[in-house]
Amino acid sequence: MHEVDRVISERLSSSVPLVAQISQYIIAAGGKRLRPALLLLVCGALGYRGAHRLSLAAVVELIHTATLLHDDVVDASTLRRGRPTANESFGNPASVLVGDFLHTRSFQMMVETGSMRIMEVLSEATNVIAEGEVLQLMMMHDASLDETGYLRVIRSKTAKLFEASARLGAILAHSPAAVEEACATYGQALGTAFQIIDDVLDYDGDTSEMGKNLGDDLREGKSTLPLIAAMQRGTPEQTAIVKHAIEQGSTEQLADIVHIVRVTGALEAARTAAHEEALRAIAALEKIPASTYRSSLLHLAESLLERRS
Ligand code: IPE
Ligand code: IPE
Ligand code: MG
Ligand code: MG
Repeated sequence: MHEVDRVISERLSSSVPLVAQISQYIIAAGGKRLRPALLLLVCGALGYRGAHRLSLAAVVELIHTATLLHDDVVDASTLRRGRPTANESFGNPASVLVGDFLHTRSFQMMVETGSMRIMEVLSEATNVIAEGEVLQLMMMHDASLDETGYLRVIRSKTAKLFEASARLGAILAHSPAAVEEACATYGQALGTAFQIIDDVLDYDGDTSEMGKNLGDDLREGKSTLPLIAAMQRGTPEQTAIVKHAIEQGSTEQLADIVHIVRVTGALEAARTAAHEEALRAIAALEKIPASTYRSSLLHLAESLLERRS
């Protein structure tokens, strides 16, 4: 992971000072580096140790970072990784444009692998992520979004990059198709569980641990699994409060909503859904030979359910 960080900072260079400044600002703020870790663990489990694993691990983190720069503009978020967001510090135009720089730098780096298959996987992933963010935008303030619609959004906007990261590890290792598919399934299920927990923590987390503001989803009128489950389980009155909050997109009733998602068992239901995805991820690992890397992948799926940050 230190090597990956070294590759990332090398590749953030630009003759335009603001580009390097904003890129460094967000990268240096930290982040869990989950997607590169996933790619490297899969490479380890399947026995690939070539240099492309470091550059592709950097590529998936750069794509992730670019989407965060854009996402924080779209979501009007002010806190990320425990710091003011780039849009808060440098403004929306600079964030959008530097996000484009990171995206296109990642394209330059993936071309260096010379593999059409790798470019195919990553171009498809970036495209689906964009589609997922647009789909979510269309669902804002829509209290009729059901679990199927919600899953479609999060599989696109979040799970797709986890899926691509795991799949790339298998592609680098020249694994048979069945192993590649198992890795992709693992990544997809892990990413889905990850986003469900993220959405739970928006109501049940801690700002200083998360490094971002809680209640942001509600402020935006974004319906996520905790709210969907609460509307299914609540009394007509509770359901009406949640529906109203989604339609209005205000945090005025955040305390009421937090209470409702707790007492209706909606948070628990969402955690159970995440757990099922984690089990699906773990089951997919059976196609991969046993090793310390595979154990780490298994542990990762379990520990994401317990995460607080
Ligand atoms: C944040 O992802 C965006 C979501 C998909 C919820 P991470 O929680 O992986 O962000 P960092 O990189 O650790 O900050
Ligand atoms: C994260 O989505 C952005 C992408 C996956 C592209 P969210 O908007 O749900 O995540 P946070 O809460 O800002 O990290
Ligand atoms: Mg956001
Ligand atoms: Mg968003």
